[in-house]
Amino acid sequence: MRSHYCGQLNETQVDQEVALCGWVHRRRDHGGVIFLDLRDRDGIAQVVVDPDTPEAFANADRARNEFVLRIRGRIRLRPEGTQNPNMPTGMIEVLASNVEVLNTAATPPFQLDEHGKVGEETRLKHRYIDLRRPEMIDKLRLRSRITHSVRAYLESQGFLDIETPILTRATPEGARDYLVPSRTHPGEFFALPQSPQLFKQLLMVSGFDRYYQIAKCFRDEDLRADRQPEFTQIDLEASFVEESDIMSLTEDMIRQLFQDVLDVSLPAFPKMPYSEAMNRYGSDKPDLRIPLELIDVNDLMRDVDFKVFSGPAKADDGRVAALKVTGGAKLSRKEIDAYTDFVNIYGAKGLAWIKVNERAKGIEGLQSPIVKFMEGIIESLLDRVGAEDGDIIFFGADKARIVNEALGALRVKLGEDLDLYTQEWAPLWVVDFPMFEADDAGRLAALHHPFTAPSSSPEAFKADPANALSRAYDMVLNGTELGGGSIRIHDQAMQRAVFEVLGIGEEEAEEKFGFLLDALRFGAPPHGGLAFGLDRLVMLMSGAKTIREVIAFPKTQSAACLMTDAPGEVSADQLKELNIRLRQKAQQGGNGEA
Ligand code: AMO
Ligand code: AMP
Repeated sequence: MRSHYCGQLNETQVDQEVALCGWVHRRRDHGGVIFLDLRDRDGIAQVVVDPDTPEAFANADRARNEFVLRIRGRIRLRPEGTQNPNMPTGMIEVLASNVEVLNTAATPPFQLDEHGKVGEETRLKHRYIDLRRPEMIDKLRLRSRITHSVRAYLESQGFLDIETPILTRATPEGARDYLVPSRTHPGEFFALPQSPQLFKQLLMVSGFDRYYQIAKCFRDEDLRADRQPEFTQIDLEASFVEESDIMSLTEDMIRQLFQDVLDVSLPAFPKMPYSEAMNRYGSDKPDLRIPLELIDVNDLMRDVDFKVFSGPAKADDGRVAALKVTGGAKLSRKEIDAYTDFVNIYGAKGLAWIKVNERAKGIEGLQSPIVKFMEGIIESLLDRVGAEDGDIIFFGADKARIVNEALGALRVKLGEDLDLYTQEWAPLWVVDFPMFEADDAGRLAALHHPFTAPSSSPEAFKADPANALSRAYDMVLNGTELGGGSIRIHDQAMQRAVFEVLGIGEEEAEEKFGFLLDALRFGAPPHGGLAFGLDRLVMLMSGAKTIREVIAFPKTQSAACLMTDAPGEVSADQLKELNIRLRQKAQQGGNGEA
């Protein structure tokens, strides 16, 4: 039906006859001549319809926004003075000889160029219209180019694309499972995969050696701007590899991707141990574009006459840290109060500060609610953080976890608010993660997942599991965890030992992971891999603010699809077939039991 996409037209095609198909973006009536801006996925072309072609004119006359048209006509240069250099097709227009209305359109719930005036809910409810916007088309096109580049790279490295099941058993990645009831096994459920983790390990046992998949993953967890209940991973696994093999391969892949798609040469990827990332940035995914660092001042604060500081400074699990912001003395009281409220969200009980107005004047040159407690140590403190006139120093004092979270988040917020970025792209690897983290009751949970190998020998691991480090690695870009992976346990005894540390008894291990433990007995090669969050990668590369913007049909923050109205109720017959009886909903007057 068409000879060209609207966006492909330009002045080299003058006098060519073309056929275009698309939607009416705008229609203007100019004293007897009708102008139609015709839009398709490649762009917009201006069509001119003259009363000399009465049939075409009549059709153009009844066309309204979002009508679907087919137009035939001849390309000509726009008259002098009417060209639009801001538009790729702005030098030309199409003089229509024929206008066909292929379909009409009701008035859309919002005009495309007025999408900002309606809430995200309206846009998600009518997503098929929202996706007509050029910005949305650009993002999905970029997404397609990204998967294309990644596939080409992995195929060139000998990786095989293999699908793994969606109806499966629980795959522990730390979130709740989405469950699917089985009709043929009454009372039993499938779980949707939180990742293909176990299947890709089994493929290594089978000898596939190099696997990849662009895989859908499902996690029932609290949603944020960079999390969706259903998301996509670029998942890969390889055999006979060490950390450095997977890291250099995936780094090369990302480097090539940025070159292919954005024409960007990424800088070097430094490797940073987890403990250093926490100490210097309060985060295991530091945004290295921001030149601020947390500085330990525990030793200086032990004996100050301010319990808020001396307490944590002396406690084993406490931390007192300073965050110096160059030029920050200009922050107003109101701004500082707002930052205090901000760190409260992360559990901080306050945000002490010192403004360095004139260092040469000693205490007199400082302004601060706490400086009266610091007299004995003030010079050492100012030296430690390298304070100069015009700086502000913020402080956090509490359990190390709270100080890290609060000052880590404040660091990112200050970077954003004061536009402190020193570079556009700051990738890094975070390595040497602990195997486990303890909850408040002292129970250990896997920091990555329970199939990650410890970096110590089996004997050393068993002697002190709580302090063991793992062979995991995360790739971080601009403060976002793009991907994570590890070298896996390929030894059955070690896998059992890790389950034991996690409080998974032998029976439970057999019940949940018997197939894995079994497979490890039948010649499992050393193996490891990594998974990237595709949605996050596209978000960063497209400059989007949330991953919802780079997913064609995303879910809301409450994990619902406004367009299809999913999740939805099902009929009594379907439930019966599945052997499911619902507890009555409270609002229907039930007592919660049935
Ligand atoms: P992990 O759980 O770290 O590792 O996930 C890998 C990457 O997937 C992305 N991601 C998400 N993206 C959007 N919404 C979510 N809810 C979400 N959760 C995770 C992140 C993350 O870095 N099987 C292991 C990988 C491995 O060890 O090979 C795994 O799934 O970008
Ligand atoms: P106060 O003596 O409670 O008025 O606190 C003096 C200053 O210390 C105020 O600026 C508080 O915001 C700050 N502050 C209080 N608790 C903490 C804390 N745990 N960490 C950092 N600063 C704090």
